[in-house]
Amino acid sequence: MSDEGLSNLLHEERTFAPSEEFVAQANGTAELFEQAEADREGFWAQKAREYLDWETDFDQVLDWSEAPFARWFLGGRLNACVNAVDRHVEAGHGDRVAIHWVGEPEDDTRDITYAELHEQVQRAANALTDLGVREGDAVMIYLPMIPEAAVAMLACARIGAPHSVVFGGFSSDALRSRIADAGSTVVITADGGYRRGKPSGLKSVVDGALEGGENPVESVLVVRRTEQDVEWTEGRDTWWHEALEAADATHEAQAFDAEHPLFILYTSGTTGKPKGIFHATGGYLLQTAYTSHVVHDIHPESDVYWCTADVGWVTGHSYIVYGPMTLGATQVMYEGTPDTPHQGRFWEIVQDKKVTILYTAPTAIRTFMKWGKEIPEKFDLSSLKLLGSVGEPINPEAWMWYREVIGGGRCPIVDTWWQTETGAIMISPVPGVTETRPGSAQHPIPGINAVVVDDMGQPVERGSGGYLVVTEPWPSMLRGIWGDPERYKETYWSRFEDMYFAGDGAKLDEDGNIWVLGRVDDVMNVSGHRMSTAEIESALVSHPKVAEAAVVGAADETTGQAICAFVILREEAVEQADEEGEGQDLVAELRQHVAKEIGAIAKPRQIMIVAELPKTRSGKIMRRLLKDVAENREVGDVTTLADSSVMDLITQGMKED
Ligand code: WTA
Repeated sequence: MSDEGLSNLLHEERTFAPSEEFVAQANGTAELFEQAEADREGFWAQKAREYLDWETDFDQVLDWSEAPFARWFLGGRLNACVNAVDRHVEAGHGDRVAIHWVGEPEDDTRDITYAELHEQVQRAANALTDLGVREGDAVMIYLPMIPEAAVAMLACARIGAPHSVVFGGFSSDALRSRIADAGSTVVITADGGYRRGKPSGLKSVVDGALEGGENPVESVLVVRRTEQDVEWTEGRDTWWHEALEAADATHEAQAFDAEHPLFILYTSGTTGKPKGIFHATGGYLLQTAYTSHVVHDIHPESDVYWCTADVGWVTGHSYIVYGPMTLGATQVMYEGTPDTPHQGRFWEIVQDKKVTILYTAPTAIRTFMKWGKEIPEKFDLSSLKLLGSVGEPINPEAWMWYREVIGGGRCPIVDTWWQTETGAIMISPVPGVTETRPGSAQHPIPGINAVVVDDMGQPVERGSGGYLVVTEPWPSMLRGIWGDPERYKETYWSRFEDMYFAGDGAKLDEDGNIWVLGRVDDVMNVSGHRMSTAEIESALVSHPKVAEAAVVGAADETTGQAICAFVILREEAVEQADEEGEGQDLVAELRQHVAKEIGAIAKPRQIMIVAELPKTRSGKIMRRLLKDVAENREVGDVTTLADSSVMDLITQGMKED
């Protein structure tokens, strides 16, 4: 962000106190801050016993002796699925709706109670066991937004098999490398899912990932959703509904160690290889449930909660499946896109299902703003009591629009900062306590210690910027990178001593509020999805016509950042393109190539074919300069460039385009 942008943010002085009515019913109180401050570990121990049912109580809260490898709730044993499902049924809430599922085609809905969920997770746990899945085996899940996604995840948790969910927008190639990395023998997928009014295939992508070459997969379970035609490999493929029908209806869940891995989730880092972030059962479940309660303010007996994220991302893991369900909440799950079949779809769902809590992303809010307030104004949104935002910085203008147009000026907004790695919300207003400030995530929640530091690791003064770090271990912290402990240490714990470096830049305002500004490393944030510049560069370079590529995230009004690629062609390709005037076709071909290598979500918005890339004398690509070009700014300081005329060539080329 430019300096001007920074100082503008610091002039944001509006605050909004929660109404008395909201405060009176809020789960989170000021006392939590005092309790956590007085005895942090004691606080988490008490919360762990308040929010979770343990089969065996823990005897030590935290072991940090092998930092940065933490262990929480030592000696404790529990089952995540029992906490998220069974115990609600046992408590007499079996008839409560767990999921109001809304398919993308209109009138395609299903309500699933906790009792029904209980039956399905037991059958699915037995079906997986029948396929040979045992404690510790990683199961790959590649599903659309259908209830079976939650069932599959919970069934894995039930038998102690860490799941590895891959977002449905990833390609066969991306899926193949994740299957290999985790060594999954079972893949759970669907024939397809509805996207923008059309069925789109998922099984075919899994087939592609398993074609040719060695892979560890022995079984593919296929949920029938769209009923489209699918290829079938006898002996490997089984319909999910048939497997569940054939399986025993009851499954006795056993408890696992608090540190037993619950899931792996791949996320982009600064190199071309995605990182398998993994989380442990006890601490993760605790912090997702606790934040669902005190930040989202879920009252399971009365609220209808809706998180619009996909289960393929961490937000779907923590705030569709584990957090809300551990509380026994009722929620909406929606399969499709916000503009299908019309741009009021979200608001129609809020009205029909009487949604009280809505958790969505800034990119969606900015899109709704662009479509105009007349659309939500056609619907009755008076059921809403709290709004949440996650995934990227929300600009004060979008925040105010969200508050006024969607929240009718009465709903507190929680701008929640966290990451795949942190597992659960870390910095956010506590809605019954905090006076909110548009655009700022504000303060660490009770129990979490996070600060903004300078280059030397010293906390910055109010009014200054720096790096966001977490200074104490927290229950839902990642336990590492699957199979690569060194990379874990190097990535998060080497920049500052004894502090977790989140990779984000942040600023403290004069009132001590934290403003998260975005990534300071080579990770982009496109519509709230993490993309690595290196990963897209390596996809581009794998194309036979490409010699070199540099990718930057350029500011974009709707998506936050957009992917812009600068590509140098191989000699032969240049000649060919010149002769045949094929520049445009080639750009289309390269975009398609990236979609094949990673997935459609990684397609660059723009690809510029250039003759040179700006580099420092040590050969490092100067992304900052390319960003200036991509954002159509005056090109910045080029004195460290090995050949400063390169930038002139690039900007000239752009103008001629
Ligand atoms: C960004 C998503 C500003 C940040 C939960 C972080 C945010 C990355 C916010 C993690 C927020 C997330 N304000 N930036 N409220 N929430 N981010 O792993 O850059 O997909 O590092 O987790 O999103 O993305 P991830």
